[in-house]
Amino acid sequence: MSFVDHNLTSLKLNGPSISADVVKDLPPEEVIFGASIGMRIVREKLLKLADTSVPVLIHGESGTGKEVVAKLLHQWSPWQGSPFVKINCPSIPTTLIESELFGYEKGAFTGAHGAKAGRVAQAHEGTLFLDEIAELDFATQSKLLQLLQDGEYYPIGGKKEKRVDVRVICATNRDLQKEIELGTFRRDLFYRINVVNVRLPALRERIIDIPLLANYLLSYYNLKFNRNSPPFSATIFRAFTQHSWAGNIRELENLTKRYVILGSEDAIWAELVSEEAQISDQKSDVVFDGSVPLRKLTRRAARDFEHKIILKALQNHKWNRKEAARSLRISYRALLYKLREAADIAAHRTAEQRAAQQIASD
Ligand SMILES: Nc1ncnc2c1ncn2[C@@H]1O[C@H](COP(=O)(O)OP(=O)(O)OP(=O)(O)O)[C@@H](O)[C@H]1O
Ligand SMILES: [Mg+2]
Repeated sequence: MSFVDHNLTSLKLNGPSISADVVKDLPPEEVIFGASIGMRIVREKLLKLADTSVPVLIHGESGTGKEVVAKLLHQWSPWQGSPFVKINCPSIPTTLIESELFGYEKGAFTGAHGAKAGRVAQAHEGTLFLDEIAELDFATQSKLLQLLQDGEYYPIGGKKEKRVDVRVICATNRDLQKEIELGTFRRDLFYRINVVNVRLPALRERIIDIPLLANYLLSYYNLKFNRNSPPFSATIFRAFTQHSWAGNIRELENLTKRYVILGSEDAIWAELVSEEAQISDQKSDVVFDGSVPLRKLTRRAARDFEHKIILKALQNHKWNRKEAARSLRISYRALLYKLREAADIAAHRTAEQRAAQQIASD
Protein backbone atom coordinates (compact mmCIF):
# COMPACT_ATOMS: atom_id res chain seq x y z
CA MET A 1 0.00 0.00 0.00
CA SER A 2 1.36 3.32 -0.97
CA PHE A 3 0.21 5.62 1.80
CA VAL A 4 0.36 3.34 4.70
CA ASP A 5 3.81 2.82 6.04
CA HIS A 6 3.94 -0.30 8.08
CA ASN A 7 5.86 -0.29 11.28
CA LEU A 8 6.71 -3.85 12.07
CA THR A 9 6.33 -4.46 15.77
CA SER A 10 7.29 -7.74 17.34
CA LEU A 11 4.94 -9.35 19.80
CA LYS A 12 5.65 -12.35 22.00
CA LEU A 13 2.55 -14.43 22.42
CA ASN A 14 3.04 -17.80 24.11
CA GLY A 15 5.52 -18.86 21.53
CA PRO A 16 7.68 -17.66 18.69
CA SER A 17 7.55 -13.96 17.93
CA ILE A 18 5.23 -12.78 15.18
CA SER A 19 4.81 -9.39 13.65
CA ALA A 20 1.94 -6.91 13.64
CA ASP A 21 1.32 -3.82 11.56
CA VAL A 22 0.68 -0.51 13.24
CA VAL A 23 -1.20 2.02 11.14
CA LYS A 24 1.03 5.04 10.81
CA ASP A 25 0.17 7.17 7.85
CA LEU A 26 -2.99 7.65 5.79
CA PRO A 27 -4.03 10.34 3.30
CA PRO A 28 -5.59 13.37 5.06
CA GLU A 29 -9.24 12.88 5.91
CA GLU A 30 -10.38 15.62 3.54
CA VAL A 31 -8.72 13.67 0.71
CA ILE A 32 -10.13 10.32 1.79
CA PHE A 33 -13.70 11.65 1.85
CA GLY A 34 -13.63 14.51 -0.65
CA ALA A 35 -16.86 16.40 -1.16
CA SER A 36 -19.19 13.80 -2.67
CA ILE A 37 -22.44 12.86 -0.98
CA GLY A 38 -21.60 9.14 -1.18
CA MET A 39 -18.44 9.61 0.84
CA ARG A 40 -20.14 11.96 3.28
CA ILE A 41 -22.56 9.14 4.12
CA VAL A 42 -19.60 6.78 4.59
CA ARG A 43 -17.89 9.28 6.91
CA GLU A 44 -20.97 9.77 9.07
CA LYS A 45 -21.38 6.02 9.42
CA LEU A 46 -17.74 5.49 10.32
CA LEU A 47 -17.83 8.24 12.94
CA LYS A 48 -20.78 6.56 14.64
CA LEU A 49 -19.01 3.22 14.58
CA ALA A 50 -15.55 4.25 15.60
CA ASP A 51 -15.78 3.77 19.36
CA THR A 52 -17.83 0.57 19.24
CA SER A 53 -16.37 -2.87 18.71
CA VAL A 54 -19.14 -4.16 16.40
CA PRO A 55 -18.04 -6.04 13.29
CA VAL A 56 -18.05 -4.01 10.09
CA LEU A 57 -18.34 -5.22 6.52
CA ILE A 58 -16.84 -2.91 3.91
CA HIS A 59 -17.75 -3.59 0.34
CA GLY A 60 -16.99 -1.85 -2.90
CA GLU A 61 -15.30 -2.38 -6.24
CA SER A 62 -11.61 -3.08 -6.44
CA GLY A 63 -9.45 -0.01 -5.71
CA THR A 64 -12.18 2.05 -4.02
CA GLY A 65 -10.20 2.33 -0.77
CA LYS A 66 -11.59 -0.47 1.40
CA GLU A 67 -8.27 -1.02 3.13
CA VAL A 68 -7.73 2.71 3.62
CA VAL A 69 -11.14 2.98 5.29
CA ALA A 70 -10.50 -0.09 7.49
CA LYS A 71 -7.26 1.48 8.69
CA LEU A 72 -8.93 4.81 9.30
CA LEU A 73 -11.61 3.13 11.39
CA HIS A 74 -8.87 1.54 13.47
CA GLN A 75 -7.15 4.90 13.83
CA TRP A 76 -10.35 6.52 15.02
CA SER A 77 -11.01 3.77 17.54
CA PRO A 78 -10.02 3.82 21.22
CA TRP A 79 -7.62 0.92 20.50
CA GLN A 80 -5.66 2.85 17.86
CA GLY A 81 -2.38 2.18 19.70
CA SER A 82 -2.95 -1.58 19.41
CA PRO A 83 -2.17 -3.74 16.39
CA PHE A 84 -4.07 -3.56 13.12
CA VAL A 85 -3.68 -7.09 11.78
CA LYS A 86 -4.51 -7.67 8.14
CA ILE A 87 -5.17 -11.07 6.62
CA ASN A 88 -5.36 -11.18 2.88
CA CYS A 89 -7.50 -14.34 2.64
CA PRO A 90 -6.81 -15.30 -1.01
CA SER A 91 -3.05 -15.07 -0.56
CA ILE A 92 -2.87 -17.80 2.09
CA PRO A 93 -3.27 -21.41 0.87
CA THR A 94 -6.35 -23.20 2.29
CA THR A 95 -4.10 -25.74 4.01
CA LEU A 96 -2.33 -23.01 5.98
CA ILE A 97 -5.09 -20.53 6.69
CA GLU A 98 -6.28 -22.19 9.90
CA SER A 99 -2.82 -22.24 11.51
CA GLU A 100 -2.09 -18.75 10.22
CA LEU A 101 -5.27 -17.41 11.79
CA PHE A 102 -5.58 -19.44 14.96
CA GLY A 103 -2.04 -20.72 15.56
CA TYR A 104 -1.13 -24.18 16.87
CA GLU A 105 0.02 -25.97 20.02
CA LYS A 106 3.28 -27.82 20.43
CA GLY A 107 3.04 -31.27 18.83
CA ALA A 108 -0.17 -30.43 16.94
CA PHE A 109 1.39 -31.93 13.80
CA THR A 110 4.74 -33.29 12.67
CA GLY A 111 7.23 -30.48 12.88
CA ALA A 112 5.26 -28.40 15.41
CA HIS A 113 8.18 -28.31 17.89
CA GLY A 114 6.74 -25.34 19.75
CA ALA A 115 3.43 -23.51 20.02
CA LYS A 116 2.78 -20.65 17.65
CA ALA A 117 0.28 -17.86 18.12
CA GLY A 118 -1.86 -16.97 15.11
CA ARG A 119 -2.96 -13.66 13.66
CA VAL A 120 -6.14 -13.65 15.78
CA ALA A 121 -4.09 -13.68 19.00
CA GLN A 122 -1.85 -11.03 17.56
CA ALA A 123 -4.87 -8.74 17.07
CA HIS A 124 -5.89 -8.98 20.76
CA GLU A 125 -7.31 -5.63 21.89
CA GLY A 126 -6.84 -4.32 18.37
CA THR A 127 -8.39 -4.76 14.93
CA LEU A 128 -8.48 -7.91 12.81
CA PHE A 129 -8.96 -7.00 9.15
CA LEU A 130 -10.05 -9.90 6.94
CA ASP A 131 -9.57 -8.79 3.36
CA GLU A 132 -11.46 -10.60 0.58
CA ILE A 133 -13.46 -12.59 3.13
CA ALA A 134 -15.44 -14.37 0.39
CA GLU A 135 -12.31 -16.42 -0.36
CA LEU A 136 -12.29 -18.19 3.03
CA ASP A 137 -13.05 -21.90 2.90
CA PHE A 138 -16.05 -23.31 4.75
CA ALA A 139 -14.11 -24.90 7.63
CA THR A 140 -12.32 -21.65 8.46
CA GLN A 141 -15.61 -19.79 8.15
CA SER A 142 -16.99 -22.03 10.95
CA LYS A 143 -14.06 -21.27 13.25
CA LEU A 144 -14.42 -17.59 12.53
CA LEU A 145 -18.11 -17.80 13.37
CA GLN A 146 -17.24 -19.20 16.80
CA LEU A 147 -14.75 -16.40 17.33
CA LEU A 148 -17.37 -13.80 16.48
CA GLN A 149 -20.04 -15.45 18.64
CA ASP A 150 -18.06 -16.09 21.81
CA GLY A 151 -14.69 -14.38 21.34
CA GLU A 152 -13.23 -17.89 21.65
CA TYR A 153 -11.19 -20.15 19.44
CA TYR A 154 -9.05 -23.29 19.58
CA PRO A 155 -5.52 -23.27 18.17
CA ILE A 156 -4.79 -26.39 16.11
CA GLY A 157 -4.15 -29.27 18.51
CA GLY A 158 -5.45 -27.18 21.42
CA LYS A 159 -7.67 -28.77 24.08
CA LYS A 160 -8.56 -25.56 25.84
CA GLU A 161 -10.25 -22.58 24.23
CA LYS A 162 -8.49 -19.21 24.10
CA ARG A 163 -10.17 -15.88 24.47
CA VAL A 164 -9.47 -12.69 22.57
CA ASP A 165 -10.98 -9.26 22.39
CA VAL A 166 -10.84 -8.02 18.81
CA ARG A 167 -12.77 -5.71 16.51
CA VAL A 168 -13.32 -7.58 13.25
CA ILE A 169 -13.50 -5.68 9.97
CA CYS A 170 -14.14 -7.64 6.78
CA ALA A 171 -13.88 -6.45 3.19
CA THR A 172 -15.08 -7.86 -0.08
CA ASN A 173 -15.73 -6.84 -3.64
CA ARG A 174 -18.06 -9.80 -4.14
CA ASP A 175 -21.80 -9.98 -3.61
CA LEU A 176 -21.96 -12.12 -0.45
CA GLN A 177 -25.72 -12.69 -0.82
CA LYS A 178 -24.97 -14.34 -4.13
CA GLU A 179 -22.18 -16.41 -2.56
CA ILE A 180 -24.68 -17.60 0.06
CA GLU A 181 -27.10 -18.66 -2.67
CA LEU A 182 -24.26 -20.48 -4.42
CA GLY A 183 -23.48 -22.26 -1.16
CA THR A 184 -19.92 -20.93 -0.86
CA PHE A 185 -20.52 -18.57 2.06
CA ARG A 186 -22.17 -19.35 5.40
CA ARG A 187 -25.35 -17.40 5.95
CA ASP A 188 -24.85 -17.35 9.76
CA LEU A 189 -21.35 -15.92 9.32
CA PHE A 190 -22.70 -13.30 6.96
CA TYR A 191 -25.13 -12.07 9.62
CA ARG A 192 -22.31 -11.94 12.17
CA ILE A 193 -19.89 -9.92 10.04
CA ASN A 194 -22.54 -7.70 8.52
CA VAL A 195 -23.68 -5.95 11.69
CA VAL A 196 -22.83 -2.68 10.00
CA ASN A 197 -22.35 -2.43 6.29
CA VAL A 198 -20.30 0.28 4.60
CA ARG A 199 -20.45 0.60 0.84
CA LEU A 200 -17.68 2.54 -0.84
CA PRO A 201 -18.79 4.31 -4.02
CA ALA A 202 -16.94 3.70 -7.28
CA LEU A 203 -14.79 6.60 -8.49
CA ARG A 204 -17.18 7.25 -11.40
CA GLU A 205 -19.90 7.90 -8.81
CA ARG A 206 -17.77 10.60 -7.17
CA ILE A 207 -16.19 12.42 -10.10
CA ILE A 208 -16.48 15.65 -8.14
CA ASP A 209 -13.63 14.28 -5.97
CA ILE A 210 -11.26 13.47 -8.83
CA PRO A 211 -9.39 16.81 -8.93
CA LEU A 212 -8.76 16.71 -5.17
CA LEU A 213 -7.57 13.10 -5.29
CA ALA A 214 -5.45 13.65 -8.40
CA ASN A 215 -3.79 16.78 -6.96
CA TYR A 216 -3.08 15.01 -3.71
CA LEU A 217 -1.59 11.99 -5.49
CA LEU A 218 0.46 14.29 -7.69
CA SER A 219 2.08 16.11 -4.77
CA TYR A 220 2.53 12.81 -2.92
CA TYR A 221 4.41 11.18 -5.79
CA ASN A 222 6.36 14.33 -6.66
CA LEU A 223 7.66 14.21 -3.12
CA LYS A 224 8.19 10.47 -3.07
CA PHE A 225 10.06 10.30 -6.38
CA ASN A 226 11.77 13.65 -5.90
CA ARG A 227 10.23 15.11 -9.06
CA ASN A 228 8.62 18.38 -9.87
CA SER A 229 5.90 17.51 -12.38
CA PRO A 230 3.56 20.48 -12.98
CA PRO A 231 -0.18 20.39 -12.16
CA PHE A 232 -2.41 18.46 -14.57
CA SER A 233 -3.79 20.50 -17.45
CA ALA A 234 -7.46 21.49 -17.66
CA THR A 235 -7.87 19.21 -20.70
CA ILE A 236 -6.65 16.16 -18.84
CA PHE A 237 -8.97 16.93 -15.94
CA ARG A 238 -11.81 17.05 -18.46
CA ALA A 239 -10.78 13.66 -19.80
CA PHE A 240 -10.50 12.32 -16.21
CA THR A 241 -14.08 13.26 -15.49
CA GLN A 242 -15.26 11.39 -18.60
CA HIS A 243 -13.19 8.25 -18.03
CA SER A 244 -14.92 5.10 -16.70
CA TRP A 245 -12.30 4.28 -13.98
CA ALA A 246 -12.81 0.54 -13.82
CA GLY A 247 -9.82 0.36 -11.44
CA ASN A 248 -11.10 3.26 -9.30
CA ILE A 249 -8.63 5.21 -7.10
CA ARG A 250 -5.88 2.66 -7.71
CA GLU A 251 -6.13 3.34 -11.45
CA LEU A 252 -5.97 7.11 -10.85
CA GLU A 253 -3.00 6.55 -8.57
CA ASN A 254 -1.18 4.47 -11.20
CA LEU A 255 -1.82 7.05 -13.91
CA THR A 256 -0.52 9.80 -11.65
CA LYS A 257 2.54 7.75 -10.75
CA ARG A 258 3.29 7.21 -14.43
CA TYR A 259 2.84 10.93 -15.14
CA VAL A 260 5.24 11.88 -12.36
CA ILE A 261 7.87 9.33 -13.40
CA LEU A 262 7.67 9.94 -17.15
CA GLY A 263 7.18 13.68 -16.70
CA SER A 264 4.57 14.09 -19.42
CA GLU A 265 0.81 13.81 -19.86
CA ASP A 266 1.12 12.00 -23.16
CA ALA A 267 1.41 8.50 -21.68
CA ILE A 268 -1.83 9.20 -19.81
CA TRP A 269 -3.54 10.52 -22.94
CA ALA A 270 -2.65 7.37 -24.78
CA GLU A 271 -4.15 5.26 -22.03
CA LEU A 272 -7.37 7.22 -21.84
CA VAL A 273 -7.67 7.07 -25.62
CA SER A 274 -6.83 3.37 -25.67
CA GLU A 275 -9.88 2.55 -23.53
CA GLU A 276 -12.03 4.62 -25.84
CA ALA A 277 -10.58 2.79 -28.87
CA GLN A 278 -11.39 -0.56 -27.29
CA ILE A 279 -14.96 0.51 -26.68
CA SER A 280 -15.39 1.69 -30.24
CA ASP A 281 -13.80 -1.59 -31.47
CA GLN A 282 -16.49 -3.52 -29.61
CA LYS A 283 -19.12 -1.40 -31.32
CA SER A 284 -17.52 -1.57 -34.75
CA ASP A 285 -20.69 -2.66 -36.57
CA VAL A 286 -21.67 -0.14 -39.20
CA VAL A 287 -24.65 1.90 -38.06
CA PHE A 288 -26.19 4.30 -40.51
CA ASP A 289 -29.38 6.13 -39.73
CA GLY A 290 -28.99 8.92 -42.29
CA SER A 291 -28.38 11.63 -39.70
CA VAL A 292 -24.69 12.22 -40.57
CA PRO A 293 -23.35 12.89 -44.09
CA LEU A 294 -21.04 10.31 -45.65
CA ARG A 295 -18.12 12.76 -45.87
CA LYS A 296 -18.22 13.35 -42.12
CA LEU A 297 -18.51 9.63 -41.38
CA THR A 298 -15.50 8.70 -43.51
CA ARG A 299 -13.42 11.53 -42.03
CA ARG A 300 -14.25 10.27 -38.55
CA ALA A 301 -13.38 6.66 -39.50
CA ALA A 302 -10.04 7.77 -41.01
CA ARG A 303 -9.20 9.74 -37.87
CA ASP A 304 -10.12 6.79 -35.62
CA PHE A 305 -7.91 4.56 -37.73
CA GLU A 306 -5.07 7.07 -37.47
CA HIS A 307 -5.42 7.16 -33.68
CA LYS A 308 -5.25 3.39 -33.50
CA ILE A 309 -2.05 3.34 -35.55
CA ILE A 310 -0.52 6.02 -33.30
CA LEU A 311 -1.46 4.03 -30.24
CA LYS A 312 0.16 0.92 -31.72
CA ALA A 313 3.32 2.87 -32.51
CA LEU A 314 3.46 4.21 -28.96
CA GLN A 315 2.99 0.73 -27.53
CA ASN A 316 5.70 -0.65 -29.84
CA HIS A 317 8.10 2.01 -28.59
CA LYS A 318 7.19 1.71 -24.91
CA TRP A 319 5.52 5.15 -24.93
CA ASN A 320 8.66 6.88 -26.18
CA ARG A 321 7.01 9.63 -28.22
CA LYS A 322 10.10 10.70 -30.13
CA GLU A 323 10.75 7.17 -31.40
CA ALA A 324 7.05 6.63 -32.12
CA ALA A 325 6.96 9.85 -34.17
CA ARG A 326 10.07 8.75 -36.08
CA SER A 327 8.54 5.35 -36.88
CA LEU A 328 5.34 7.03 -38.10
CA ARG A 329 7.43 9.50 -40.12
CA ILE A 330 5.70 12.51 -38.67
CA SER A 331 7.20 15.32 -36.60
CA TYR A 332 7.24 15.12 -32.83
CA ARG A 333 5.02 18.20 -32.64
CA ALA A 334 2.52 16.62 -35.03
CA LEU A 335 2.36 13.54 -32.82
CA LEU A 336 1.68 15.65 -29.71
CA TYR A 337 -1.04 17.52 -31.57
CA LYS A 338 -2.69 14.29 -32.68
CA LEU A 339 -2.57 12.82 -29.19
CA ARG A 340 -4.33 15.86 -27.74
CA GLU A 341 -6.87 15.75 -30.55
CA ALA A 342 -7.53 12.05 -29.82
CA ALA A 343 -8.06 12.72 -26.12
CA ASP A 344 -10.40 15.65 -26.85
CA ILE A 345 -12.45 13.52 -29.20
CA ALA A 346 -12.59 10.67 -26.67
CA ALA A 347 -13.80 13.04 -23.94
CA HIS A 348 -16.33 14.64 -26.28
CA ARG A 349 -17.76 11.29 -27.43
CA THR A 350 -18.12 9.97 -23.91
CA ALA A 351 -19.98 13.15 -22.98
CA GLU A 352 -22.26 12.67 -26.00
CA GLN A 353 -22.92 9.04 -25.06
CA ARG A 354 -23.71 9.99 -21.47
CA ALA A 355 -26.10 12.71 -22.65
CA ALA A 356 -27.81 10.23 -25.02
CA GLN A 357 -28.16 7.69 -22.19
CA GLN A 358 -29.58 10.39 -19.94
CA ILE A 359 -32.14 11.38 -22.57
CA ALA A 360 -33.06 7.73 -23.13
CA SER A 361 -33.60 7.14 -19.42
CA ASP A 362 -35.62 10.35 -18.88
N1 LIG B 1 -9.65 8.16 -0.45
C1 LIG B 1 -8.40 7.94 -0.86
N2 LIG B 1 -7.54 8.95 -0.99
C2 LIG B 1 -6.32 8.75 -1.49
N3 LIG B 1 -5.86 7.55 -1.88
C3 LIG B 1 -6.65 6.50 -1.74
C4 LIG B 1 -7.97 6.65 -1.22
N4 LIG B 1 -8.56 5.44 -1.22
C5 LIG B 1 -7.65 4.59 -1.73
N5 LIG B 1 -6.51 5.21 -2.04
C6 LIG B 1 -5.33 4.59 -2.66
O1 LIG B 1 -5.81 3.75 -3.70
C7 LIG B 1 -5.23 2.46 -3.67
C8 LIG B 1 -6.32 1.41 -3.46
O2 LIG B 1 -6.84 1.52 -2.15
P1 LIG B 1 -7.21 0.22 -1.29
O3 LIG B 1 -6.12 -0.79 -1.35
O4 LIG B 1 -7.63 0.69 0.06
O5 LIG B 1 -8.47 -0.27 -2.13
P2 LIG B 1 -9.30 -1.62 -2.02
O6 LIG B 1 -10.72 -1.25 -2.16
O7 LIG B 1 -8.87 -2.34 -0.78
O8 LIG B 1 -8.83 -2.39 -3.31
P3 LIG B 1 -8.88 -3.99 -3.62
O9 LIG B 1 -10.33 -4.39 -3.68
O10 LIG B 1 -8.25 -4.11 -4.96
O11 LIG B 1 -8.12 -4.66 -2.52
C9 LIG B 1 -4.22 2.48 -2.54
O12 LIG B 1 -2.94 2.67 -3.05
C10 LIG B 1 -4.64 3.65 -1.67
O13 LIG B 1 -3.53 4.26 -1.08
MG1 LIG C 1 -8.01 -4.30 -0.56
